[in-house]
Formats: sequence, structure tokens, C-alpha cells
Amino acid sequence: MTALPKRAPVVSAHCAALCAAGAAPIRAGEPGYSTKLDRDRDGIGGKCPPGRSVVRRTVMAGWRHAHTLDSALQNQRTITLACDGPAVIVRFDGQTVVVTGAAHGFGRAISLAFAVRGARVWACDVNEAGLRETEALAVQEGASLQVRTVDVSNRRAVQALVQEASGGERVDVLVNNAGGVLGQVGRPVEEISQDDWHALFRVNVDGAFYFSQAVAPIMKARGAGRIVNISSGAGVGVSLTGVQAYASAKAAQIGLTRQLAHELGAWGITVNSVAPGFVRSNPTTERQWESYGEDGQRRLIENIALKRLGSPEDIAHAVLFFASEYAGWVTGQVLSVDGGK
Ligand SMILES: NC(=O)c1ccc[n+]([C@@H]2O[C@H](COP(=O)([O-])OP(=O)(O)OC[C@H]3O[C@@H](n4cnc5c(N)ncnc54)[C@H](O)[C@@H]3O)[C@@H](O)[C@H]2O)c1
Repeated sequence: MTALPKRAPVVSAHCAALCAAGAAPIRAGEPGYSTKLDRDRDGIGGKCPPGRSVVRRTVMAGWRHAHTLDSALQNQRTITLACDGPAVIVRFDGQTVVVTGAAHGFGRAISLAFAVRGARVWACDVNEAGLRETEALAVQEGASLQVRTVDVSNRRAVQALVQEASGGERVDVLVNNAGGVLGQVGRPVEEISQDDWHALFRVNVDGAFYFSQAVAPIMKARGAGRIVNISSGAGVGVSLTGVQAYASAKAAQIGLTRQLAHELGAWGITVNSVAPGFVRSNPTTERQWESYGEDGQRRLIENIALKRLGSPEDIAHAVLFFASEYAGWVTGQVLSVDGGK
């Protein structure tokens, strides 16, 4: 068994004291977890290299651990402070951003990432309770967002949401994130029903198509816009889930990305795709993770160049890039955000 390489630890006295006192790290989704990030150029313990910043996670009662939770390192009960690179300020003040599938996982992280950076976010999903949680988290972060229950496979509902969000005037960024395997698991191809096959296309492809169709005239009229589709490693290779319709739908969504980039570029609209690797972001991926067993989990991490699983925030950061002014001359691209091979 190969030993997992340790990251160069940047552990502050503050964090070390908390760890020594046995304070447990808080994982995404657990009570008290907050995605609020605060930047402190000197680091809490003053240990960060100059020009880098420390990420501190806040909880309601004040400061807690200042670290990223890394499942590989967690197994070794090692906790590090995160130096998250040069502090690049990206803001979206005054911009209207629509995010689909925002009740959970990536969509929630993406919605919050835009909301705390000043955007007017319209977060939609079919899961109303989850949307309310996303809304509450935004308030905790000192931000706000609008939530709406919308089925992305309902073209009329999509048109109505875009009309409401845009006021007929502006949608700056559309993030087509709703999707996934909808609880399906890998089965032999001859056992797949027509309904199961089409269900995954409806949410992963039709939804992205209907939303893109709805925002296109508004973005064209303004001569600007960003569309970011969340595809998957499954769309560029073989899916770990074994679900044929999922791999096919994500590949189709990437085709849509390239074609729309070509068509809409003349109006200053970029269309790109983020292709995440496996991230434990919801009950389905938790079950998938459990099904691998200890050896399978270790092998999966060993096969990732950066030797850790990703987080919903890792995916949100790639979306922020495509939506930002730094990606002004990038379109039709698929960015794998998977820790590397
Ligand atoms: N988690 C991963 O490992 C992983 C890897 C690669 C790609 N992805 C993709 O990332 C996206 C988000 O995945 P996640 O892991 O955060 O999953 P998730 O299940 O937490 O989020 C998907 C969201 O889409 C919503 N949704 C489903 N059908 C919908 C519909 N018809 N209309 C509106 N909303 C609907 C769900 O309610 C859910 O909130 C998906 O497109 C998924 O395929 C995930």
C-alpha cells in the first residue's frame, strides 16, 4: 500500500491547539459547517507565505478550525490550514446569475459563491426544502438569493423563471448544474428501460438546452453573457457510476456546449463546461463512496494526482473563473476539475 504523501502543512498555533484539544473537524453539510471564507493575509498563526491567504471557516459561535478537510489527510488525523493561493478578488456586483440544481451539492456551493461576491442570484431546483437551506446559508453569509422551484425539463417553467429573473433585460451568467443520475445505478445495458434512459437526458441535456434557449435572446441584446454547463468526467471518459444514459447525456451536454459557443460567440457570449471528477456531495455519491470499501476508496484517491477528493467549492471556483472577466477569451472549453490523473 503506497503511503499517502502529506501536503506541506501550514498549521497555525490556533489550529494546532484546537486539534490537540480534540475538536472535531466539520464536514460539508454537517451542522455548523459554513462555506464562509475569510481571508487573513498573515494567517492566523502568521505562518502563510507572503502574498497567500488563509481560509478560515466560521461557525456560529465564532472561529473554529482553520483548515480544509481533506479526506485523505483526515484518515491520518492530520489537519492543515489551507493556503488558498494569491488572493484574487473576483466580484459580480450588480450581475444577475441563474443557477439550476441549487438545493444541494455543487449548485448550492455555486449559488453561495456568486451571492457572497455581490451577484443577484436566482437559485432553482425541484427540491424546495433544499432551496430553503441554501437560502438560509446565504443569509448566514451576509448575502441573499432568490429561490424558485423549477423543473428544468419543463420548457415553459424555464422560460417563466428566466423572464422573472431577467426582467426581460439581463442575465449575465447562467449555470446549468441540475443533473446527476437521479438515483439510478449501473445495470447491464439490456435491462435499461426507455423511461430510465430518457429521464437522464431530460434533466442533464434538455434542461441545459431550454435554459440556454431562454437566456440567449437576453444575452444577445446586451452583447454579453456567460453560460457554464456542469458536465462530468463521465462525459469525457467512462463513468464510475456505470450508468450508460448518464455518460451519454453528459457527452451530449458537452456537444451542446461546443456548438452554442460557436453560435453565440458573435454576440460576446461564452459557453464553457466544467467536468468534475468524483465528489462526495450528496446521498448518491455517499452511497457510491461506501460501495467502494476501504481499499477501493484508497485506490481512488491514489489515482488522483493531487491525492485528495474534491469539494463542491472546488467546482464552484472553476465556475467563477469561466464567469469572470479573466475568462473573456475562453469559450467552447471543457475544464476537468478532478484533481488530475
Ligand atoms: N458529485 C459528483 O461526483 C459529480 C461528478 C461529476 C458531475 N457531477 C454533476 O454535477 C451536477 C451537480 O451534482 P451534485 O453532485 O451536486 O448532485 P446533487 O444531487 O446534490 O445536485 C443536483 C441537484 O439537481 C436537482 N435536480 C434534479 N432534477 C432536477 C430537475 N428536473 N429540475 C431542477 N432541479 C433538478 C436536484 O434536486 C439536486 O438538488 C450534476 O449535473 C452532476 O451530474 C457531479
